[in-house]
Amino acid sequence: MRHLVTLDDLSNFEIEQIFRLAAGMQSQQETWAGICRGKLLATLFYEPSTRTRLSFESAMERLNGRTLGFSDPRATSTAKGETLADTARMVTNYADLIVVRHNWAGSARVIAQHAHVPVINGGDGSHTHPTQALADLYTIMRRKSQIQGLTVGICGDLQFGRAAHSFSLAVARFGGNLIHIAPKPLQMPPWVLAQLEQCHGQKPLEVESVIEVIDRLDVIYVNRLQEERLPANMDAATVRGSYLLNAAVMKNAKPDAMIMHPLPRVNELAYELDDDPRAAYFEQSANAVPVRMALIASLMGLEQLILTQPPERDIAASAKLCENPNCVTNHETYLTPERETFDATVELHACAYCGNLVS
Ligand code: NCD
Repeated sequence: MRHLVTLDDLSNFEIEQIFRLAAGMQSQQETWAGICRGKLLATLFYEPSTRTRLSFESAMERLNGRTLGFSDPRATSTAKGETLADTARMVTNYADLIVVRHNWAGSARVIAQHAHVPVINGGDGSHTHPTQALADLYTIMRRKSQIQGLTVGICGDLQFGRAAHSFSLAVARFGGNLIHIAPKPLQMPPWVLAQLEQCHGQKPLEVESVIEVIDRLDVIYVNRLQEERLPANMDAATVRGSYLLNAAVMKNAKPDAMIMHPLPRVNELAYELDDDPRAAYFEQSANAVPVRMALIASLMGLEQLILTQPPERDIAASAKLCENPNCVTNHETYLTPERETFDATVELHACAYCGNLVS
């Protein structure tokens, strides 16, 4: 049984297989309709969502499977104090596949540990959002054929944006050259930078304004300020409105650059760009459906993909509590914090749940 908790659960080969399948599903939907007949997908959404939940439901229904779930946890036993582990044990009897979105980093991993069906992370706090990264990579590959050699700028709230974390790591894995663009308080967290450097050999250029680098970018990926995730000691007013991609900025961009955004947008991506042929963000949200169709079919083993085992990762229990207050191990008391070693040679140790670096 396979889960998708972070993108590390899939090899590059498997990701490319999923993309081939997604392309086939996109162009020949009738061929694939029916392969999930009789199967149930549970959508456990503890946090607001439009695209992720609806595109997963659309994907399952297009394969003639069915969905059940919730989008308001206040109407579930969570409101009575049920743990994630117990919820997972329950739902595993009701569905063949689970998608979960939760505000704690590492929550999807906990569900995967306690479920007997494949679990997909639909976003865990400000940690990762692997299926968004799959839709993002797929969109680039369709427009540009490959990621290798492209210069990819990621601009906005890189500190708290889970889509930005997964996207950055995914681009590095496929050989893109990264530039991180963010005002100081919103720069990429150390755990992402450490993985980029030690697992993918990249030390991205970090700048504070998109204007400095716009003419070099093949892809410019913007995200919104994650206001709901800002810590209490950070004054949102100091960073609100601190970055914007608009037509004036895009005047200096390459004529074949791609403008990307995981959406929703608030005030960082001007509406005037919607008609710019370089805008790819609605394509990204549309591509999420075939990519999620292919992922569902692959994790359920329905399309006979040859999935290899995920890369070996050394996971050791450690008594030390995770220092990330939003880590699931600091909320669900039955969990033992675990340390994950990505690369024994360089000694990169991180919390296995939320990725926070451990010394
Ligand atoms: C993203 C998310 O939820 O992290 N949205 C999405 O799934 N497309 C980005 C965001 O909320 O800013």
